[in-house]
Amino acid sequence: MFNKGNKWLFALFATLFLMTSTSSFAQDGEALFNAKCATCHQPHQDMTGPKLYEVRKKWEDGGAADGSIYQWVKNWQVAAANDPYAKEVSAWSPTAMSFFADLSNEQIDAIFDYVDAQPMPSAGGDGGAVADAGGAQTSQEQETSLGWIWYIIAGIFVVIILSVGGVRRQLQHIDEDGEPQVTYGDEIKQWIFRNRKSVGVGVLVIVLALIVGLFLQLYQIGVVTAYQPSQPIQFPHDIHAGTNGIDCKYCHNSVDKSKSAGVPTVNVCMNCHKQIKGAGEQVEQIAKIYEAAGFNPEGPGAYTGETENLVWNKVHSLPDHVYFNHSQHVVVGGIDCKQCHGDMTKQKELPRVVPVEELNQIEGNVQLTKPTLTMGWCIECHGEKEIANGPVSGKGGGYYEEIHKRLLENDESLYEDYLEDGKVTVKELGGWECAKCHY
Ligand code: HEC
Ligand code: HEC
Ligand code: HEC
Ligand code: HEC
Ligand code: HEC
Ligand code: HEC
Repeated sequence: MFNKGNKWLFALFATLFLMTSTSSFAQDGEALFNAKCATCHQPHQDMTGPKLYEVRKKWEDGGAADGSIYQWVKNWQVAAANDPYAKEVSAWSPTAMSFFADLSNEQIDAIFDYVDAQPMPSAGGDGGAVADAGGAQTSQEQETSLGWIWYIIAGIFVVIILSVGGVRRQLQHIDEDGEPQVTYGDEIKQWIFRNRKSVGVGVLVIVLALIVGLFLQLYQIGVVTAYQPSQPIQFPHDIHAGTNGIDCKYCHNSVDKSKSAGVPTVNVCMNCHKQIKGAGEQVEQIAKIYEAAGFNPEGPGAYTGETENLVWNKVHSLPDHVYFNHSQHVVVGGIDCKQCHGDMTKQKELPRVVPVEELNQIEGNVQLTKPTLTMGWCIECHGEKEIANGPVSGKGGGYYEEIHKRLLENDESLYEDYLEDGKVTVKELGGWECAKCHY
């Protein structure tokens, strides 16, 4: 088997394969838990969320519907609507859990596996707990040492191949004095030369694999789905924009004029809340507005002058190297807020980055597949969406007629290409050019 010179290539591939395959699964459970759940959950202690140790068993014993726990992690609201057990769990605390629509069932299992493998930290638990902790300890050790075994096997594999090659080399090249004449380096060079075609292909494949790997890593940078930070006031969009029909622009008043939509100052809230003091549970939240505005609601109401800043946490946030302009999309593109932010008139909870699967369920939205706010998402829509006053069919304002005329005069065949599918997409006007979106 080792007579063929291809052993080198084979060894290299085998090592590479083993390294990539092990590193990708070693990462799963622990990394996912730390990245997504550890802010609110611990294995053995209640924090913002309940302890997660053996939670799958707990749900099963508690009579939860099959698969309900996975639905819970992806979107607890859906789970609570479909499964009475999940609904009970959702009452555990007033804090709501985030959504993790991007996690697969396998990844969720990996998280729970990791949690269940965490030893009980307490000393002096009862016998059962100690035995449990012992069992958990060994299974965790097995899991981590398993990763190392692969590296060791790969190492041994390479050593065996090298030494088999070495023995053969010595047998072949011994002269009368019994001294080897050809050095390792020489033989490697000769072998590379003899097999230059397969070496070339091999190197190409490895380089391509590295580049693809690098890009896949890059695409993970800054991608957060269903992000829903806490806010200083539980501001309900449904009551304001829905029930009371307040226009988005009343509060986000720069959305049709500038790059950013803007978040209202406390004075905007006071336009109404000077009078609306709320009842019951509302009083506490509305009192925070008064605190920030420096307003004493007692009696006729008076400003005290002691104001405080309301620090809203930004929900939708693109990296600094990206240029995104609201007025361009809302006014020129004629796109509804729903397309990108979901239906805020029905949003009871705090605002969040709505996962693309949910955006797709809203009537009239362009159907997209890439996660919301990622580059793929912007690009995909620019490839699908017609510019508002698109085709030449006569409708549309002067601006676009001008563009069509210019295109036609410039290069008629290119213009025909553009119109082949009967529409002019954002892409065809340059919406895929890096510099349009990147500073
Ligand atoms: C923002 C805080 C937060 C984050 C982050 C979070 N959770 Fe939760 N989780 C909660 C809260 C709070 C509850 C309790 C239910 C409630 O009160 O709404 C909960 C409940 C649960 C439950 C049910 C627990 C039980 O005892 O029945 C499971 C399972 C769960 N979370 C899994 C996860 C997983 C897995 C992750 C990470 C992918 C995660 N959670 C991330 C806050 C969070
Ligand atoms: C009465 C004022 C008011 C109205 C009306 C209103 N909003 Fe808001 N909106 C706010 C405030 C205050 C915040 C910041 C607090 C927060 O994030 O919870 C906010 C936050 C948001 C965010 C998240 C911003 C971020 O940080 O990324 C979005 C998206 C949003 N609003 C969309 C809308 C849409 C769409 C409408 C119309 C359907 C609307 N809003 C109507 C006051 C308002
Ligand atoms: C155009 C008028 C108007 C503006 C502006 C306005 N609100 Fe309200 N707000 C209302 C009305 C109406 C209610 C409902 C009162 C009720 O249910 O009796 C309400 C209710 C609330 C509640 C209680 C919700 C609940 O049921 O728990 C909070 C909190 C609140 N507003 C915060 C804000 C904040 C913060 C701002 C500024 C960003 C703001 N509002 C701006 C009209 C307004
Ligand atoms: C084409 C998608 C898209 C549409 C349509 C859209 N937004 Fe946004 N919105 C975004 C993105 C992307 C961000 C994040 C911007 C950033 O971080 O620079 C954002 C951020 C926001 C914010 C946070 C504050 C800010 O300016 O960064 C608010 C508030 C908001 N949008 C409200 C609205 C409202 C109201 C509408 C409808 C009138 C709307 N958006 C329409 C994509 C969109
Ligand atoms: C729902 C579809 C949609 C999404 C999502 C979207 N865009 Fe757009 N975008 C448009 C449309 C439509 C136009 C064209 C407006 C017009 O008619 O000029 C546009 C135009 C632009 C332009 C101007 C292009 C030019 O040729 O001048 C930029 C820059 C841009 N978008 C950036 C972004 C970024 C960054 C994102 C992601 C954060 C994004 N867009 C997400 C639909 C979208
Ligand atoms: C329609 C707008 C748009 C266009 C066109 C665009 N980008 Fe991006 N790009 C984005 C957005 C939005 C992000 C941030 C996405 C995120 O944080 O996940 C981004 C992020 C990136 C990143 C950082 C990696 C990442 O995914 O976070 C790189 C690198 C990049 N873009 C390169 C390019 C290159 C090269 C081109 C031209 C071929 C290009 N972009 C064209 C919108 C665009």
